[in-house]
Parts: sequence; C-alpha cells; structure tokens
Amino acid sequence: MMKLSSTNRELRTMTFENYMQREGGEKAYEEVQDAVKGFEERENLGLMIFGETGNGKTHLTAAGANLLIDQGYSVIFLTEKDLFSRLRETKRFSNHESFTDIMKACLDADLLIWDDFLSSQKFSPEEKDWVFQIVNGRERANRPIWMTSNLSPKEFEDPRTAYRLDEKGRTWWRLIVNMNCMYNRATNYRAVMAMERMKEMNHPQNGKENEHDSNELST
Ligand SMILES: Nc1ncnc2c1ncn2[C@@H]1O[C@H](COP(=O)(O)OP(=O)(O)OP(=O)(O)O)[C@@H](O)[C@H]1O
Ligand SMILES: [Mg+2]
Repeated sequence: MMKLSSTNRELRTMTFENYMQREGGEKAYEEVQDAVKGFEERENLGLMIFGETGNGKTHLTAAGANLLIDQGYSVIFLTEKDLFSRLRETKRFSNHESFTDIMKACLDADLLIWDDFLSSQKFSPEEKDWVFQIVNGRERANRPIWMTSNLSPKEFEDPRTAYRLDEKGRTWWRLIVNMNCMYNRATNYRAVMAMERMKEMNHPQNGKENEHDSNELST
C-alpha cells in the first residue's frame, strides 16, 4: 500500500519494465535492484540517488517501491515538499490528519521514500526538527529510507550541505551512514523526449515520403 502519496497513479506506472537502461544510470539501477532483492537482509541500509533533473531518479525508486508493494511491504512515497505541507496543514484548525498520524506512518512504514531531498531552499526550525525526528526514529526502528536529490556531486561533498539541517550536522551524518549514496550521471530524459517530439513535428515529411515511395513501387 502506497500511503500518504499525492501522485499515486503516476508512480504506480513507473516500473522496471518501462525503464530503459541509460548511460550513467547503471549504478543507481543496480543499487535499487539490490535493495529490493535484499530488502530484509539490508535492514536499515537505505540508498540515495542524486543527480540532475529528469534523469530517472523518481522512476527508479518508484519501480523498486512497486515491486516491494507487490510483495506486501508498506511503502510511503513522498516528496519533501508534500511531506512538509502535510505536516504543516495539521496545525490548522480544520485539518483532517493529525501530526502524530503522519509522523507515525513515516516511522512505521517498511520503507520510506523521500523524493527531492533538500529541495527546500531553507529549512525552518520546525522543519529541521521534523527531518531529525523521522531520520532518528527510523534509525532506531531499524528501517531504511531511500532518497532522491538534485544535489550535484560537489554539493554532496560540501560540508555546508551537512549543516543545512542542523548546525552540528547530526541529521545529515545519521542519514548518510545508513545509506549507499550514488551519483546518477544519466542525462535529462525529459529533454531527450522533448527534442524527439520537436523533431517529429518539424519534419513530418519523413513519414509521408516513405508512404509516397511505397506507392510508387506498387504502381
Ligand atoms: N531510463 C528511463 N527509462 C524510461 N523512462 C525514463 C527514464 N528516465 C526517466 N524517464 C522518464 O522521464 C521522466 C522524468 O524522470 P524522473 O521523474 O524519474 O526524473 P527525476 O530524476 O526524478 O527528476 P527530478 O530531479 O526533476 O525529480 C519520467 O516520466 C520518467 O518516467
Ligand atoms: Mg524526481
């Protein structure tokens, strides 16, 4: 069951069957496969895939999630933005979800997938506390977190990244020590698709010429 997810339907369509192996994405692909096959043995060992926009990070982690869901595991897939807004919403008078419910779901799920980690420009003290609660809580419960992030390799290694979550880097190091982190070097697939579509639209005669050719041959 993929709970607490706002884009359930699209995520369910992202599988390994419709994922193309692309140059630079090999390590991330292998890692997700391994994390699914060895889900029990890996215990709280999670993974982080970072890299440029559109290169398949969400697709890969969702493909892994779908396999685990089919095996009966509970998986929560959330973008950082959605998670924070859901938690923030609970503070409103008219809320229908309680803070404790969401927090409990994030700690209890067999797998938590945190999509777009560190996508927030700046974390409020409250948000920093939420991240720590989840990271710390899942570590204590011995459960993994999978993350995707737009961090560049340089940003990943920059100590300032660790201190974005708290001034001592507590959250960051707790998280990283329990993860296999890898850089997905594949290019932006959205750009590839857009360029192909544009080519088709601007050179429609390619298809027509072939039709014409075959007509000539048949006469
Ligand atoms: N290797 C691939 N094979 C098939 N489809 C792919 C592949 N890589 C990406 N896509 C498709 O391209 C689109 C963008 O991929 P995805 O959402 O996984 O990117 P992302 O790395 O998570 O991007 P962002 O960093 O912006 O969140 C999706 O529709 C996804 O299904
Ligand atoms: Mg994504």
